[in-house]
Amino acid sequence: MTHYLGIDIGTTGTKTLLIDAEGRVLAEANAGYPLEQPRPGWTQQDPEDWWQATIKTVRGVMATAKLSPGDVAAIGLSGQMHGSVFLDKHDQVIRPALLWNDQRTAAECAEITTRAGGRKALIRLVANPALTGFQAPKVLWLRNHEPKHFAKLAKVLLPKDEIRRRMIGDYVTEVSDASGTLFLDVVKRRWSKTLLDKLDLDSGLLPRVVESEDVTGTLTAEAAEQLGLTPQCQVVGGAGDCAAGAIGTGVVRSGVLSTSIGTSGVMFVHSDQPQYDTLGRLHTFCHAVRGKWHMMGVNLTSGGSLQWWVENVLQGLGGVESELSYDAAVAEAAEVPAGCGSLLFLPYLNGERTPHADPSARGAFVGLDLTHRRGHLTRAVMEGVTFALRDSLEIIKSLDVPVKQIRVSGGGSRSQLWRQMQADVFGKKVATLQVEQGPAYGVALLAAVGNGAYKNIEQACKATIEVASETPPDRKAAKAYAERFPIYQRLYGRLKDDFADLVALG
Ligand code: XUL
Repeated sequence: MTHYLGIDIGTTGTKTLLIDAEGRVLAEANAGYPLEQPRPGWTQQDPEDWWQATIKTVRGVMATAKLSPGDVAAIGLSGQMHGSVFLDKHDQVIRPALLWNDQRTAAECAEITTRAGGRKALIRLVANPALTGFQAPKVLWLRNHEPKHFAKLAKVLLPKDEIRRRMIGDYVTEVSDASGTLFLDVVKRRWSKTLLDKLDLDSGLLPRVVESEDVTGTLTAEAAEQLGLTPQCQVVGGAGDCAAGAIGTGVVRSGVLSTSIGTSGVMFVHSDQPQYDTLGRLHTFCHAVRGKWHMMGVNLTSGGSLQWWVENVLQGLGGVESELSYDAAVAEAAEVPAGCGSLLFLPYLNGERTPHADPSARGAFVGLDLTHRRGHLTRAVMEGVTFALRDSLEIIKSLDVPVKQIRVSGGGSRSQLWRQMQADVFGKKVATLQVEQGPAYGVALLAAVGNGAYKNIEQACKATIEVASETPPDRKAAKAYAERFPIYQRLYGRLKDDFADLVALG
């Protein structure tokens, strides 16, 4: 029997899934790694950690499922988007990789916009404005701040494509993840030579681009040995984690949206055409569905806000790691009425992308009073994150994109409270899937398509992904949120300058 692997190189760890040709999950393994934060707003990782986690989790699922190496026909790769792995001509990593939520490149975003001939001209070339997390400003940052490293630069790869290089010994990316570099002509689905010229960058720095289901190569003998697989095993293009997650939730036709609450929060909508937000608030990227696109809004610190609140504050207070578990904190939050009285939380702990595109935005609790307790603050954090997702939903609706169904996914949506909160804040019922395994599942399906088990990804999703239940909004809670959302929206504009002044003070 033929089997497929889906590997997701996430920010906190790598998740690997093993599926059979019918899409049944036979085994799952996870391995974590550290995140370096040398300064506020700077995030880095060592690509070697990703590779070691890949080996460990692949070996883990093979052992659990008791399969032989030859049973795996193809691998799909997914991962955190936008990051930069800088390689020299001997394929050595030059410095730690800069990640999607790294905020050090504000000056380089301005430089790119100027060199492109202004924001509108840039959006015309690559469908998106320059945003601090994207890859292109990171390359310019290296040139501007670490010229000795830049002089050695031979290739820049996205995180999952560095893992592909370790697997197949070739430099390849695919359209969905390539869209988040800012180097891709998203409409034509190929590198924008025009922008590269304007930035004085050589296109030889970039890998070749394919469609997400295309086979990019087979494992080298060395990689096969390390992973416990065979050199016949194929590696398909795969997808950035947002497009992969959308495939894993069956968002492959128009009218279907998905939200994902992981470290980041994503509101994702399929699009048959390369439709874009002329104001550049939403990203317009190629979908991992051949010849299709998607738009999405991204909040940088969604599950990350709850993680900060529970781990740094609630658990940090007593200095005892396990003092209050996530489940216990969320159970307290569930006891608090929707809206937390007068309390709101802005989840901009590491700057924000959609809709503010502001690396200096910061978090805030607003409206505290003497009756508020721990549970109110936990709930306010979860509500603030959900309001941030609604910001993206409102932009999607304002572009006349049909919204027929919203499917919720990601670690955060496993919480019943957070699922209900999404239905209430969006004022729409949300759908939950029978089995929700996120990006790793999406790319395992792409591997099955690339290997010929299905005609295309639409057919694979239809055969394997099923909605389990729908959660309707609670009328009273929806009203409480509808009253508070405009105040939430106003607060950023009122505090923006203060955030910038505070950040300048360091
Ligand atoms: C998407 C984005 C994040 C990362 C997180 O644009 O920046 O969702 O991909 O893994």
